[in-house]
Amino acid sequence: MAMIEVAGLSKIYETPGGAVRVLEGLELAVAAGEAVAIVGPSGSGKTTLLNLLGALDRPSGGTIRIAGEDIGGLSAAAAARFRNRALGLVFQHHHLLPQLTVLENVLLPRLAGGWEEPAVATTQRARDLLGKVGLDHRLNHLPWQLSGGEMLRAGVARALLNRPRLLLADEPTGLLDQAATAQVAELLLQLNRDEGVTMIVVTHNTALARQLGRTLELAHGKLREAAR
Ligand SMILES: Nc1ncnc2c1ncn2[C@@H]1O[C@H](COP(=O)(O)OP(=O)(O)OP(=O)(O)O)[C@@H](O)[C@H]1O
Ligand SMILES: [Mg+2]
Repeated sequence: MAMIEVAGLSKIYETPGGAVRVLEGLELAVAAGEAVAIVGPSGSGKTTLLNLLGALDRPSGGTIRIAGEDIGGLSAAAAARFRNRALGLVFQHHHLLPQLTVLENVLLPRLAGGWEEPAVATTQRARDLLGKVGLDHRLNHLPWQLSGGEMLRAGVARALLNRPRLLLADEPTGLLDQAATAQVAELLLQLNRDEGVTMIVVTHNTALARQLGRTLELAHGKLREAAR
């Protein structure tokens, strides 16, 4: 089954200085259960692409289907429901809420509504996820009391709370040292292997890219198979 079907995708940012063409005629097909690494130079449009796949932004042209659903035309409210139900998003910048503790930040997706699991069970899973990313000793810290790498790992735990079928991760190991990188990489690979979670991972980490199923390179607005 196809999880992601992208055809003729383009994204042009209109700025006071003129139009910035980032994606042009991009094609992408990802089967359910696949894990794909995306590489490419800074400014090539990797984050732009993830924002479009996550329905956080709208394409200038082309179509995006996720699990058969055309997400390009969703209203803002429908896009939010779609993200909360089906997606895990790990951002390059963590977006933790400053007034909430680490544990509360990870539990945040639960507040969006439509959550059927009892609160006690969700809280236990949040603690387990934080344990898996090595943050069990930081549950009650506020975001500013964390290191950059710890914030990023809290963001990974939060992205997994809704048991996503599709995980979109923007440099999930970007700020991490070797030990923390290994921990996050293992968590992602295990989710893909054991639970069949489809994932797109933007990464500069060649070791992680090699462990994912396939590597695509973004350049000149399009994706192509990268040499491995
Ligand atoms: N909102 C915006 N308005 C105008 N231009 C933008 C906007 N967002 C991104 N861009 C431009 O689009 C290009 C692609 O940006 P994007 O963030 O997708 O790159 P990236 O591949 O993720 O880079 P990096 O590896 O540095 O994170 C850049 O040249 C950037 O300046
Ligand atoms: Mg980026």
